[in-house]
Amino acid sequence: MSIKRTDALRVAVLASGRGSNLQAVIDAIEAGTVQANIVAVISNKKDAPALERAKQHGLPALFVDPKPYTGRPDSREAYDRALLDVLKQHDVELILLAGYMKIVTRVLVETFMNRMMNIHPSLLPSFPGLEVQKKAIDWGCKLAGCTVHFVTEGVDEGPIILQAAVPILDDDTPNTLAARILEQEHKIYPRAIQLFAEGRLQVDGRRVFIENGKPKGEAVISPS
Ligand code: GAR
Repeated sequence: MSIKRTDALRVAVLASGRGSNLQAVIDAIEAGTVQANIVAVISNKKDAPALERAKQHGLPALFVDPKPYTGRPDSREAYDRALLDVLKQHDVELILLAGYMKIVTRVLVETFMNRMMNIHPSLLPSFPGLEVQKKAIDWGCKLAGCTVHFVTEGVDEGPIILQAAVPILDDDTPNTLAARILEQEHKIYPRAIQLFAEGRLQVDGRRVFIENGKPKGEAVISPS
């Protein structure tokens, strides 16, 4: 049974780049399809366009500089401890990684177990890591897609919440395929957040069950 919240879910977004997924979440919140408040947008890159997008929407945009921690044997953990302080100051309930190009450590993972999501442009567990659209084309896959999952210590590896599949066309380049996948990312990330906000996600080991979320039994065949 999910319990209806009376207050909006407090979300922080961690982003290193362009921030189109951040934008999709902002748009969904502004349109009222996601009941959440973005209480902080945090970047490890000072010039990240994602920070600019946050400012344009009046959201707190914070650059947390990794430099003071580099060179230390525990540099990644130390950086995450600094992030954790910021997240606690903002009373964050859910973290969204949205093009956040830093590997998170157990410092964040343990505190935000099943409360930190990532979006990745492949049908995981195929193609974790980088340049995944090129890898899907080079493998000769007929379907590619994207995945929203909870974050564990392994890169692109936690329990899967939602996936969307798209066809790979004969003349696709990594860029054209990335664009087709990105359109779906912008749909499934807000949807996953709203499911979380409604308390409808139950994690059991590697599996995430969605309350009243039975998929329809249609197969996706490509080429059809
Ligand atoms: C998105 O395609 C996202 O799936 C990917 O980075 C891009 C960020 O775009 N994330 C990963 O590859 C994580 N492993 P955005 O900054 O426009 O949201």
